[in-house]
Amino acid sequence: MTTPVTVAVTGAGGQIGYALLFRIASGQLFGEVPVRLRLLEIAAGRAAAEGTALELQDGAFPLLHSVDVTEDARSAFDGVSAALLVGARPRSAGMERADLLEANGGIFGPQGAALNAGAADDVRVLVVGNPANTNALIASAHAPDIPAERFTAMTRLDHNRAVAQLAAKLGVPVSAIDGVIVWGNHSASQYPDLSHATVNGRPATELVDEGWLADEYIPRVANRGAEIIAVRGSSSAASAASAAIDHLHDWVHGTGGHWTSAAVVSDGSYGVPTGLISSFPVRSVDGRWEIVPGLDIDTFSRERIDASVAELVAEREAVRALGLL
Ligand code: NAD
Ligand code: LMR
Repeated sequence: MTTPVTVAVTGAGGQIGYALLFRIASGQLFGEVPVRLRLLEIAAGRAAAEGTALELQDGAFPLLHSVDVTEDARSAFDGVSAALLVGARPRSAGMERADLLEANGGIFGPQGAALNAGAADDVRVLVVGNPANTNALIASAHAPDIPAERFTAMTRLDHNRAVAQLAAKLGVPVSAIDGVIVWGNHSASQYPDLSHATVNGRPATELVDEGWLADEYIPRVANRGAEIIAVRGSSSAASAASAAIDHLHDWVHGTGGHWTSAAVVSDGSYGVPTGLISSFPVRSVDGRWEIVPGLDIDTFSRERIDASVAELVAEREAVRALGLL
């Protein structure tokens, strides 16, 4: 029998956890490999996670080897090959951005240390909990024995939104679209870039006008999270879980000849300061993310990439000042 792979999900009692765990259990992440699930929660979310564990059992998933619920990060991450860090402290009334960064630093620092202590050598970490890029940076800084390349943050939902909005505008299936990029931070400053995108092999920029791009498309994609909250009454859950599956599936199984977007540690490419966890065009080759090299960046794109990267630099400075890095 194939050796099971161990996967941890934090915030497992929350709404993304509820949408995510059943897809992992059904084999949509690692394929035909038995899965041991570890559900990490805090006391307030433990009962919800326990309930989800009961439902996972009721799913009778042939690939689901075991489900454990714990409040202890070291137990949750012991031997894990994948860690999906979803649980985070949401912004509450009166909370400033620095307060949010500090509260989340208190979560992602210890979780990084727990990963460092016990994760498997092949661990892949995906941070979903916001502010995702900077939370990933904090976790990585507390895991000196795990290569920084193994810590990523999720901008795949932004990428999927960017593809879907273009497909809707042009009335084509999403499968007709290639080469979309989301740069920078998973925040409203992100830059969804169509300058290298194609639609059935034709440059997307020949099919849409600049006014629509600047005034409708970019703000719509960048503010889609807020739009979902306004319409649905709570933040995106199933689409976020789906994007998390896409990200990890591609990281494990490869992207073929295509590229996608993921927030990975910068090697200085495209003028993004080394060490920042920023969204780039990436390919997954032999189980590793590679930043797609050598793309031309025009002035319009340069300004928008720089603005989002400046926000990431400011977040890094803020968490440094708080002693979280
Ligand atoms: P939720 O409030 O429904 O669930 C979060 C869960 O995390 C709760 O059950 C809570 O008890 C748990 N939790 C809090 N602190 C924890 C800790 N230290 N350890 C373990 N668990 C902990 O929230 P949700 O809708 O599932 O969203 C989770 C996060 O994902 C939020 O930060 C949200 O903003 C973010 N998000 C990111 C993206 C993205 O594209 N990157 C998209 C959607 C949502
Ligand atoms: C999203 O992009 O849907 C979320 O990050 C929004 C949020 O603030 O939780």
